[in-house]
Formats: sequence, C-alpha cells, structure tokens
Amino acid sequence: MATQTEATDPRDLQLGRSNVTDTPELEAFYKELSGHNSDAFWNRANAIEPWEPESRYRPTIWRYATMRELCVRAIDLVSPEKAGRRVVTLLNDSEVGRASTAVCGWLFSGLQAMKPGEITPAHRHTASAHRFIMEGGGAYTVVDGHKITLGKHDYVLTPNGTWHDHGVSADGELSIWQDGLDIPLMNCLEANFYAVYDEPAQTATFPTNDLPFSYGSGLLPETRAAWDRPYSPVMVYRWEETQDALGKLARVNAPCPHDGYMLRYSNPLTGGWAMKTMGANMQMLPSMFRGTAHRHTGNVVYNVAQGRGYSNIGGQRIDWEEHDIFCVPAWMWHEHVNLGGDEAYLFSFNDFPVMEALGVRITEALEGNDGRQALQA
Ligand SMILES: [Fe+2]
Ligand SMILES: [Fe+2]
Repeated sequence: MATQTEATDPRDLQLGRSNVTDTPELEAFYKELSGHNSDAFWNRANAIEPWEPESRYRPTIWRYATMRELCVRAIDLVSPEKAGRRVVTLLNDSEVGRASTAVCGWLFSGLQAMKPGEITPAHRHTASAHRFIMEGGGAYTVVDGHKITLGKHDYVLTPNGTWHDHGVSADGELSIWQDGLDIPLMNCLEANFYAVYDEPAQTATFPTNDLPFSYGSGLLPETRAAWDRPYSPVMVYRWEETQDALGKLARVNAPCPHDGYMLRYSNPLTGGWAMKTMGANMQMLPSMFRGTAHRHTGNVVYNVAQGRGYSNIGGQRIDWEEHDIFCVPAWMWHEHVNLGGDEAYLFSFNDFPVMEALGVRITEALEGNDGRQALQA
C-alpha cells in the first residue's frame, strides 16, 4: 500500500523530490529507525521543504471599534500593576497563531489602554518592542533613563534589553497604543530573558526628549558622545514630520505601483532599520490609489493611521478604516486600494530585518493581466 511518501503534487514526480512507494521491508526499516530516535528523511522531505513558503498564518483583521471597547473595559477589570502589562493580545486567526501567541509569523502584537495617572511597571526583556500611538495625550515612556513624550501617530522604540516603563500624566487623556514585539522569534530561538526593575518606575536621568531632539532632524550632533548602541538613537518618530516627509516625497516622485509612497523609520547612523529584528514603515496611498499585487518573504502587520479602503490578501478582500489592524502573512499576494478622496496612511511593522540578515528577503510582483490578483468568491 502506498504511504504519504508517494508524491501527489505533479512537481514532486521529478528527480530530486521524494516519491517512494513503501514495501514491507521499508516499513520494518521505519519501525527500527523510530526505536533509535530517527526517521527516513524522504518521508518528510516534501513537506518540510515546500516549493515555496506556505504560511500557516491567515490574513486577519482586528476592527478598532471592537478592540477599543475591549481594551478600555480592561481598565476597570485589572490594574497595570497586577497585570504587569495590561495588554490585549492580538492572535492570528489560525491554529499556529493561537499556539505561538503570534499576530503573524515571528511577530507579537497587543493593544494597551492607559488612563491618566497610571504607569506600567519598569522591566526589560530580550524581545524588542515598538509602539504606534493611536490616541490620547500626556502619554510617555522612559527608556534607559530617557523620557520621551508620545503623541498621536508617533512611532516609538523599546529596543531589546533596555529598561522601560510607560505612563500617562495625571493631567493627560486616556491613551491607547499598539505594541509590536518579536516574542515568537525570541521564543523560537530560545533566547528570551525577562527582568523587573528595582523601582516601579525609572527616574529620568536625561532631559525630556533628549534623544529625538539630538538625533531626530536628519542631522547628526558632532558635540555629543558617539552613539554606540545597535539601534536608532532617534527613539521616537513624530507623526507631523513623517506626514510632511511623505508629502514632500510625493511632490517629486511617481508612486510605487504596490505601495504608493512609503518611508522607512530608519537609523540615521546606518540608513537601515531602526532595530535589529523588526522594522516599520509609514506609507501614503494617494486619493483613489489602486495598487497592484506583490508578495514577499517576511510578515507585516498594518495599522490604518488614516483613511478608508481595502486590501486584497491571499485572494481575500479586507475592508479597513482608521486604526483597524490587519496582517499579511509571508509570501502571500497583497494589494492595497484607497477608497477615499483624501490620502490614506498605513503604518506597518515587519520582520524584514531578520529576513535581510539571513539573506532571504525575496520579493515578487504579480505578472499578467493588470497585475492584480483574482479574488475568491
Ligand atoms: Fe516591555
Ligand atoms: Fe508588501
């Protein structure tokens, strides 16, 4: 009787792929191998070496209207001190997502709501973190003694190993942000450490906003000790400057057919991503922009900063509006459409730095017809 090693995909009939019909002798051999913590590679080869990446994650959307209400409700149910971090975790709509606590692939994401006067106790971990502020006022973070104020649509870093705590000043407003971390990657690598700080909160040891004021203009300070950390010294990227930069980019460039206009939150010392394992972008889709499809290795999680439209992901249409969150799993075709009369802005974070470091960042554009994917009924 044939076993699973016998090929079913026509491409696996060629030399170089596994296509074995079992015999009583082979089955006896397999049994003997299993008694010695071993197996015949050809029984698994086609499954573990697919012709191309086959993500086990699914396109998923989290509607802000729903998620916001759930996050705010958590405020009255548990204190940030008791919870450690009062975060509502976003789980990919797949078995692997729920098992690995991933929003998509190597990425974790959650939503955090804090009311005025609250703090998240200081701690640090091997996982890198970054945040996109969705609403509020008076929020701040302290990273290794550097206090940074946070406004709507700012993007802020918490690089791996740095002490950090967050809060909202007593005269501030209810503040909500999206966290992104590489927890699934760190756990896969079995390299995840965690520690709590001696005090509930750090005492800021530098002037407020000293890092963005020193490094955030695109000009580098000559009269300050050289920055020797492996992440961006800018630490926070302001929305006003990001939006202004996209507007200027659009004035003198044609849009990319897939992404409209897109900027990288970069480390000005290297031109590369702001952190070593996760990157982030802000892109602008011009009014009524209709993108064509591409796909790439790496996972991407989007947060709609502004606007209304939809994305076709893996043949599935996902409509979105402000602060909805959705993901594009690895190697899945996707295209973005702006349905509004104004520009739409999509914040996104990704694991591209890992793909690049490993030499496996691969991109492909859809050829034929008009470059758009067919949608499932
Ligand atoms: Fe943290
Ligand atoms: Fe893409």
